[in-house]
Amino acid sequence: MNTLEFCRVLPKIELHAHLNGSLSEKTLKSLGCLNKSVSEYQGLTSINNKIERTLHECFELFKIAHLATKNPDSVYLAAQSVIKDFADDNVRYLELRTTPRAEDGMTKEEYIESVVKAIKDSKKPLVKLILSVDRRHDILVSQNTVAVILSMRNKYPDIIKGIDLSGNPHLGCFDKELFNKAKENGLKTTIHCAEIINNDEVMEILNFGPNRIGHATFLNPNYSGSIENWESYCKKKIPAEFCLTSNVVCGTAKSYKEHHMQEWIKNGLPFSINTDDKGVFCTSLSEEYEHAQNNFNLSNTDLWTIAYNAIDHSFASIQEKALMKKELKEWKTQNQHQF
Ligand code: IMP
Ligand code: ZN
Repeated sequence: MNTLEFCRVLPKIELHAHLNGSLSEKTLKSLGCLNKSVSEYQGLTSINNKIERTLHECFELFKIAHLATKNPDSVYLAAQSVIKDFADDNVRYLELRTTPRAEDGMTKEEYIESVVKAIKDSKKPLVKLILSVDRRHDILVSQNTVAVILSMRNKYPDIIKGIDLSGNPHLGCFDKELFNKAKENGLKTTIHCAEIINNDEVMEILNFGPNRIGHATFLNPNYSGSIENWESYCKKKIPAEFCLTSNVVCGTAKSYKEHHMQEWIKNGLPFSINTDDKGVFCTSLSEEYEHAQNNFNLSNTDLWTIAYNAIDHSFASIQEKALMKKELKEWKTQNQHQF
């Protein structure tokens, strides 16, 4: 069995996947989105060829996906097909995240209802929902989003588990008050952090102390992070969510080999491997594990351990975590010959 084959059969945990960025080309086509305009279509085909692009260009691509999910039915179909893609890739636990979006004829609540329904209707994997606040929105819009998220969480406490801050890192800022409110109301927090060099904001995020951070690209001093922030991070040991291909395609990591994940491996710090936007970056979780193995000299046992440790970073309940750990251990026993 070669590396990729092992990565495919390995039961995996996905903690950082944005719904609209995860739509496959097939799903976008079935939702009628790729018929909209030739230029938009070309944007996607070049991504499928894994052509490097700037962060800004990547954010332009999300607009295409958003054209595909403008009403409750298409949001439902999109979520359903993304969940199935992850199940087919042997992902046993998925934390899907998405930004509640109001459109003509759809409220933010209806958007969330559609995603929740798709989660409830899917038999596997186990799926939890994280709802995102977009950095580019002003404080009033964000406050409204948080209020909607909290009321929907009260309706679906077993599914809606956390809140995320995402969006173009060049725009907006981290608002501590907003995330304190979510935290005080029992939501888990994960924040896109240090996607660009911004040591002041990174310090604010670390002081706030989210449950997890996304990307953490420019946090280590070898990657333009400040020594002060890195020391604070090493004390707090907040699990990082790494997305290798996303960073390489956007050019924030120079190459897989030079990805900052190596600092976490070297220092024994907690991290998970994730896809970010498997549609936009044309990847899968198995391929992300394969890149990690090929570039950081990881054994099959190391990969299994990364998946296993991600269970503890997840926002699942204690009982759900125990069940997943049991499942992964049993799988390892049954597949001893692979290790
Ligand atoms: P959605 O939230 O389901 O609509 O997924 C797409 C959205 O996720 C984008 O519009 C961004 O706001 C966010 N997003 C996806 N990838 C990234 C990333 O790498 N950094 C920050 N935000 C991201
Ligand atoms: Zn992300």
